[in-house]
Amino acid sequence: MVAAGPSVGLPNVDLASAASEAAALYTEANPNSLARHRAAAESMPGGNTRTVLFFAPYPLCFVRGDGARLWDVDGHEYVDFLGEYTAGLYGHSHPVITEAIQRALADGIALGGHTPHEIALAAAVKRRFPSVDLMRFCNSGTEANLLAISAARLFTRRDKILAFAGGYHGSVLSFPFTAPPGGTINVPFPVVLAPYNDLAATEALIAANAKDLAAVIIEPMMGGGGCIQAAPEFLAALRQACDRHGIVLVFDEVMTSRLSPGGLQQVRGIRPDLTSFGKYLGGGLPTGAFGGRAAIMERFDPRRPDAVAHAGTFNNNVLTMAAGAAGLTRVYTPEAAVALNRSGDALRQRLNELIRRRGAKAVVSGYGSMMNLHPGVAAPPASPADIAKVPTALRDVFHFDMLARGIHVARRGMINLSLPMTEQDFDKLAGAFDEFLSARAGLLA
Ligand SMILES: Cc1ncc(COP(=O)(O)O)c(C=O)c1O
Repeated sequence: MVAAGPSVGLPNVDLASAASEAAALYTEANPNSLARHRAAAESMPGGNTRTVLFFAPYPLCFVRGDGARLWDVDGHEYVDFLGEYTAGLYGHSHPVITEAIQRALADGIALGGHTPHEIALAAAVKRRFPSVDLMRFCNSGTEANLLAISAARLFTRRDKILAFAGGYHGSVLSFPFTAPPGGTINVPFPVVLAPYNDLAATEALIAANAKDLAAVIIEPMMGGGGCIQAAPEFLAALRQACDRHGIVLVFDEVMTSRLSPGGLQQVRGIRPDLTSFGKYLGGGLPTGAFGGRAAIMERFDPRRPDAVAHAGTFNNNVLTMAAGAAGLTRVYTPEAAVALNRSGDALRQRLNELIRRRGAKAVVSGYGSMMNLHPGVAAPPASPADIAKVPTALRDVFHFDMLARGIHVARRGMINLSLPMTEQDFDKLAGAFDEFLSARAGLLA
């Protein structure tokens, strides 16, 4: 293939050449990450223990984080716009969070009993999310959704769940729009898959399966699926359909609960029966939680003769509970949530304005502090189908170009804000983004 002009780091070559050239530059710049990757592959398949972190030719290995910055083993510094896929809301070293962890550490870990920390965090969640009468903690968002679905099955005495194609609810509850070559490792719940934002088709599927459906589970904005918002009317109609048929409506707000003081459910004015949480809720430490209507959650009350058991050694581990409570009550206050999401809205508008000015075919979708670049897509996607045809090589080029400019984003183009970020960080992202648009104009025409 003949490139137009010199072959290194230059514009308007064809996509395959641009991608392989960007990968070559990346490899040249990251020899120590390559060495770590090879060492990791000796004991973990592909050197990996969390699939999303892998990207070809090999992922970066980080040694330090501070505030909104990261350093890799080759000494590069990045502004962290990935933000641990939304769990890194507080950044890497928020003083209130680290102090809460240190205090909890000083009082001893793994106490094997209740502590005031879990009471504080549960009360804070209940205050912020009026749909949550009662809640319970677990260890991940995956677990939170497994438990919410199981609670719905118990409550309704029905079996099936309705989920959406392209939705992601955890490692074993994954419904990719385009099936991965090796398939999924989902739990064997009977699942009806519906098309996101397609009301007529979804209502028809609900009606056809109504007597068997325990739950409808939905991300009010698909996160991993590409920051695709559910239309407000779609969510409202789901609420009505679930009421009509006695189905438990589960909002997976593992990611989106950070998008306003009371999550996306508050923004949309919809009260789900159950909500799942995770990610940032533990202050950056592992966590999950599910909660909602008392009538459903009461079944877990161990004082009841017919109580249902829900175990988990680390459900209320002191470090997570202390960090999460400090974060939600003292750092991510309602005012902080409003301000961060406003910054996100402004940044997304700025990026879309740069796209418009350059006349590029691309769009940044999302809401508040979560967003996703879709190169080669002209309008904000309403469904995973709208982005399914973006060539992965185009996303790869964006990712490599951002890394080369000291901006850490997800390979799939996801960008998340964190609290320590400043206007200078937003300027740096916008500058790098504009350079990408300019250098890659030929690929984005
Ligand atoms: C919407 C959503 N639900 C559930 C999960 C699973 O959470 P975890 O990775 O903590 O198991 C994720 C993780 O990315 C998520 O984005």
